[in-house]
Amino acid sequence: MSKVSDYIENHKNNFEEELFELLRIPSISTSSNHKKDVKKAAEFLVERLEALDIDRVDLIETPGNPVVFAEYAPHGDDKPTVLVYGHYDVQPPDPEDLWDTPPFEPTVRDGKLYARGSADDKGQAFTHVKALEAYRKSGETFPVNIKFIFEGEEEIGSPSLVPFLKEHKDMLSCDMVLISDTAMFAEDTPSITYGLRGLTYMEFEVTGPNRDLHSGVYGGAVDNPANVLCEMIAKLKDDNGKILIPGFYDDIKELTEEEREEYKKLPFDEEKYKQDLGVNALKGEEGYSTLERTSARPALDVNGLWGGYQDEGAKTVLPAKAAAKVSMRLVPNQDPNKIADLFREYIKSITPDTVDVKITEHHGGHPSITDLSFYGLKAAGEAFKKIYGKEPLFTREGGSIPIVADFQKILGVESVMMGFGLDSDAIHSPNEHFHIKDFHRGIQTSAKFFELLPDYTE
Ligand code: BES
Ligand code: MN
Ligand code: MN
Repeated sequence: MSKVSDYIENHKNNFEEELFELLRIPSISTSSNHKKDVKKAAEFLVERLEALDIDRVDLIETPGNPVVFAEYAPHGDDKPTVLVYGHYDVQPPDPEDLWDTPPFEPTVRDGKLYARGSADDKGQAFTHVKALEAYRKSGETFPVNIKFIFEGEEEIGSPSLVPFLKEHKDMLSCDMVLISDTAMFAEDTPSITYGLRGLTYMEFEVTGPNRDLHSGVYGGAVDNPANVLCEMIAKLKDDNGKILIPGFYDDIKELTEEEREEYKKLPFDEEKYKQDLGVNALKGEEGYSTLERTSARPALDVNGLWGGYQDEGAKTVLPAKAAAKVSMRLVPNQDPNKIADLFREYIKSITPDTVDVKITEHHGGHPSITDLSFYGLKAAGEAFKKIYGKEPLFTREGGSIPIVADFQKILGVESVMMGFGLDSDAIHSPNEHFHIKDFHRGIQTSAKFFELLPDYTE
């Protein structure tokens, strides 16, 4: 193993340079203007994989952005096959003026690599490519079979990947999925994520009069869609943080007492958390701790709302319409489609007859939970211990990677989520960054995981 580990140690600069190159490609999947860049990022990965002289590397077109698939199976059926999943698309960088350095010019400051996609997910996904390189180039036999699937649509809800899984079940057959697209519990605190929340994302628009009105001439007699929107939003949750949509909680698998005890053991500093976020007090569902609220309980948040006059100064206007985007984070066993239906019915039921409402649904995804007895998690735990010198924590996280539930349903396999990021990495925000040392430790941990995995195979 030390040949592999030495190779990684000796190639840090090369690995960083290559990652910078990938980060310079603005592969923003939400924007049709960047379609070519998204493909460029896929081609970059294909090129890096081809350089490893493995069995197969392909760029496969889909109705959306291409899938990168690769395979190296030196052991046939004798050893497990790991399918590495990651995404090479990134979130838009806006608001761009809040970045200290440009989002697509990777810059290192204070041991942190600043760039859009550095942590989510290019930097993390790339660790596994480099781990395989360390085996291939140091002359060490790769210990298991490996496949890669990198998609370019994760940030827009993976619309092409679900049909792709169904269509290519044989090609993707494996014993487990390995994903680095989550966060560690804290700095130098390795963590294995065994649960993710799901998502239902809705938008609704309230329309009233057929045009914007003078608020002096008509105000008081005509219902105002912006006021109505706020009244409706106020009815989504009560003062104790309970979501008021009828049936919303029906299918939830409640936390067991054991699980709650485990939550209490996590080294969480609520004061520091508040300080980091610049808030005076926290607020959430009554009866649950902050960590439970952010990972094992659902949440409903307005993600955006607009209506009426937004520019400088004051304009006396009664707007003709107002709208909001609302996301709901879901936990096992809530179904995103059912929640969307419940949301629709509830919104209709609280819409006054003075206005009309139009409800639309955006992407969503199922929550997931990995069986803690899965042997892949044990091997990952041991790999973390060897590289970080610490027992990893087993945690659930509040973010969503909907494809994890599809890997379970369609391919019938569990995912090992080995995150090397941190919640404070500012993913999706200005100044996203990734700790360079976790990029390198990530590569070492990945290499170690592959080395140890055969010992854990059932
Ligand atoms: N990598 C994140 C998900 C994540 C972040 C998991 C932090 C755990 C901790 C992923 O790229 C993401 O942003 N997912 C979206 C959902 C998707 C359907 C757009 C999310 O969670 O909002
Ligand atoms: Mn991600
Ligand atoms: Mn993301």
